[in-house]
Amino acid sequence: MKAVLVDKPFEIRVAEVPKPEIKNPDDVLIRVKYGSICGSDIGIYKGTNALATYPRLIGHEYGGVVEEIGPGVKDLKPGDVVAVDPVRACGHCYACRTNRHNVCNTVEVTGVHRDGGFAEYVVAPESASYRIDTSKVPEDVISLVEPYSIGMQVAHRGHIHEGDKVLVMGSGPIGITVMQVAKARGASVMMTDLFDSRLERAKKLGADIVVNVREKDLEAEVMAWTDGEGMPVIVDSVCIPSSFEQAVSLASAAGRVVTLGLVNKPSAIASVQLVKKELDVVGSRLNNYRFPEVIQGFEDGSLTPAGIMSSKFHFTEAEKAIKHQIDHPEQECKVVLSFE
Ligand SMILES: NC(=O)c1ccc[n+]([C@@H]2O[C@H](COP(=O)([O-])OP(=O)(O)OC[C@H]3O[C@@H](n4cnc5c(N)ncnc54)[C@H](O)[C@@H]3O)[C@@H](O)[C@H]2O)c1
Ligand SMILES: [Zn+2]
Ligand SMILES: [Zn+2]
Repeated sequence: MKAVLVDKPFEIRVAEVPKPEIKNPDDVLIRVKYGSICGSDIGIYKGTNALATYPRLIGHEYGGVVEEIGPGVKDLKPGDVVAVDPVRACGHCYACRTNRHNVCNTVEVTGVHRDGGFAEYVVAPESASYRIDTSKVPEDVISLVEPYSIGMQVAHRGHIHEGDKVLVMGSGPIGITVMQVAKARGASVMMTDLFDSRLERAKKLGADIVVNVREKDLEAEVMAWTDGEGMPVIVDSVCIPSSFEQAVSLASAAGRVVTLGLVNKPSAIASVQLVKKELDVVGSRLNNYRFPEVIQGFEDGSLTPAGIMSSKFHFTEAEKAIKHQIDHPEQECKVVLSFE
């Protein structure tokens, strides 16, 4: 079968590799139909993803149709269309024991730490393969369940509820998934970005207020919208040291700040800033069994993944697709690869 391999930074190729086989009783063999490109795939391509090892069969956002099932598979059957959760955990460390397998001590993500889904076939455990009703959801959005699971995880970590006012900093694909999940929960959302094109997409997909921080003062906008209280929930999907500092400073008393950042550079935050307002400042990583909630949102229409798909390429053009994403950040959102 063919797969997309990154041999080392800036060396990507579509190559013939052995087709994977069912090894465990609960495995399913999936013919991949769609994948989507994430910032971390671009990081692996550029050599800036600290977690990745090479050579790597990339891709952690993918789905397809079940072709074969192991003898212990209970629910899935050949022909089912599934999205695959890329999170793999040990099952017995403290995090796993307390139902937080997404931060397992030895967590691995397919396509980053081990081989992934940009291939004609993958094998995955049944427990990580979630069926989608294709009479309600177009097949070409199945790979987008994973990025929406990031938004869903953020909503849980930030306790986003009906009536909350939420600031989402950054209108990239992840910011938009956070916004749509928050809106589906009945919150109102302000979003920021540097590019009007990204803000226009955010507005079209549901953001209540958008702020181009190159043109407007964010603090003034936040205070005007919240009658000077500050923002009850702030999600930082810009993820630079200063955005995290700004998130803490713009949060209201008793507010929540959720960061998605994987940056090593410290932010300057004094403890009094957290204590005075009794802020809950939390990280959100990957997802903790959020695929069913996301698929429910796709099926009932409260999440509209087609809106974040900005272009499509055949997987044999993966290099072209990645370069296109790198060269046109303001125009692209999610680039989807077809494996048909
Ligand atoms: N923790 C996790 O599980 C997890 C998962 C996925 C992504 N991430 C992280 O989330 C972040 C967002 O991911 P993405 O794919 O949407 O990335 P992205 O780069 O496409 O989006 C970031 C957006 O922020 C905008 N931006 C940059 N500087 C800004 C500023 N000062 N103010 C406002 N907007 C600004 C950019 O124009 C861009 O639209 C990345 O840092 C990524 O590493 C974390
Ligand atoms: Zn991703
Ligand atoms: Zn574990």
